[in-house]
Amino acid sequence: MLGEFSYCNPTKLHFGKGALRFLPSELAKYGKSVVLIYGGGSIKKNGIYEQVIEILNKSGKTVTEIAGVMPNPTRKKLEEGIEIARRANADLLLAVGGGSVCDYAKALSVSVHCKEDAWEKYYLRFEEPSCEIVPVGCVLTMAGTGSEMNAGAVITDSDAKLKIGHVFASESVMPRFSLLDPTFTMSLPRYQMVAGIYDIFNHICEQYFSGEDDNTSDYIAEGLMRSLLHSSRAAIKDMHDYEARSNIMWTATWALNTLIACGKSTDWMVHMLGQAVGAYTDATHGMTLAAVSLPYYRHIMPYGLEKFKRFAVNVWDIDQAGKSDEQVAKEGLAAMEKWMNELGLVTKISSLGANEEMIEGIADAVLVMKGGYKVLDRGEIVEILKESL
Ligand code: NZQ
Ligand code: ZN
Repeated sequence: MLGEFSYCNPTKLHFGKGALRFLPSELAKYGKSVVLIYGGGSIKKNGIYEQVIEILNKSGKTVTEIAGVMPNPTRKKLEEGIEIARRANADLLLAVGGGSVCDYAKALSVSVHCKEDAWEKYYLRFEEPSCEIVPVGCVLTMAGTGSEMNAGAVITDSDAKLKIGHVFASESVMPRFSLLDPTFTMSLPRYQMVAGIYDIFNHICEQYFSGEDDNTSDYIAEGLMRSLLHSSRAAIKDMHDYEARSNIMWTATWALNTLIACGKSTDWMVHMLGQAVGAYTDATHGMTLAAVSLPYYRHIMPYGLEKFKRFAVNVWDIDQAGKSDEQVAKEGLAAMEKWMNELGLVTKISSLGANEEMIEGIADAVLVMKGGYKVLDRGEIVEILKESL
């Protein structure tokens, strides 16, 4: 491993069935005013809302709610939440939901005491917070983003058609605690479950497909991918397979809690392409990634051939005897495609609402990252998007 890094992850996790029993002791560390943040109502249907409210009441907290945080939370919703959290004088932001709700809570945490326009400061100028940061805690209900243990927060400006993620440098933006009970993810519709699985897989790929040195992070990444392939196949057979769902939840956290990025330049171009598609279509995050992945990886494969060959052999068990490196690498991607089809992932952006007329606009919205095997030019971005149609 040739890279240099500092590593710290301050999020305290409580994992497993009944993890909510740790909520009272976590709540006791913060002041009286809790802002409870949740999405469009799934937590009311599956009973999680009632359990959380009961604990908050028993803990003597004053609760203010921000409900209706949508998938791909918007700038407008953020601005609405800033006013609510300010009025409540929030001591803790408690997110109960998936990545969108957790991301939203983090974006809010750096905005409540910010005197400038939060979107412009954090998402257009990519500045770091200089104000007080309100602590965030998460009760996770969907496995995928890793938001429960990282400092990322993705917000969409639907008018400007920009979906932008800011991974904050400050550890204070990471959730102070996260409660991960795999049974809380059981009520997820199949579509969301598989989208989450692909999001996890792609987070690992984004970090794995960079660098040429022998790096421990890559060996960990391969282990995580193998575990995910195994669990995902079990979970699509039986969505109530606790062991599989529990492994998926744990893999999601480790896929994007900064560990496997250590010593890596990291790629993130599938996410940049997917986010631009998301800004135009408001489609489910994991599906936008699935829809652009194969054209992207087939495009960059020649520039990172060694790693794609290793991926084929170590993740997909491709037999390399008597084959060229290119053939092995191609068979790896073909095996990945087969698995994506088994899961029933969306593999075309046209299935998500994108069309030919949008291509130029989507290409404009793609941020170009420089850490992967090939820095894409505009022509290549357009070509990949067209192949994804
Ligand atoms: O809103 P509700 O009613 O809660 O329904 C949600 C939503 O419709 C539903 N859901 C969640 N848990 C459920 C459930 N339905 C039934 N039972 C449950 N237990 O699922 C739908 C999707 O939820 P969402 O939170 O949007 O999904 P996800 O966790 O995939 O989060 C997506 C957001 O995270 C961002 C994405 O860009 C997107 O905005 N990301 C955040 C990252 C980070 N912080 O590091 C990295 C990721 O790459 C990603 O970009
Ligand atoms: Zn993602």
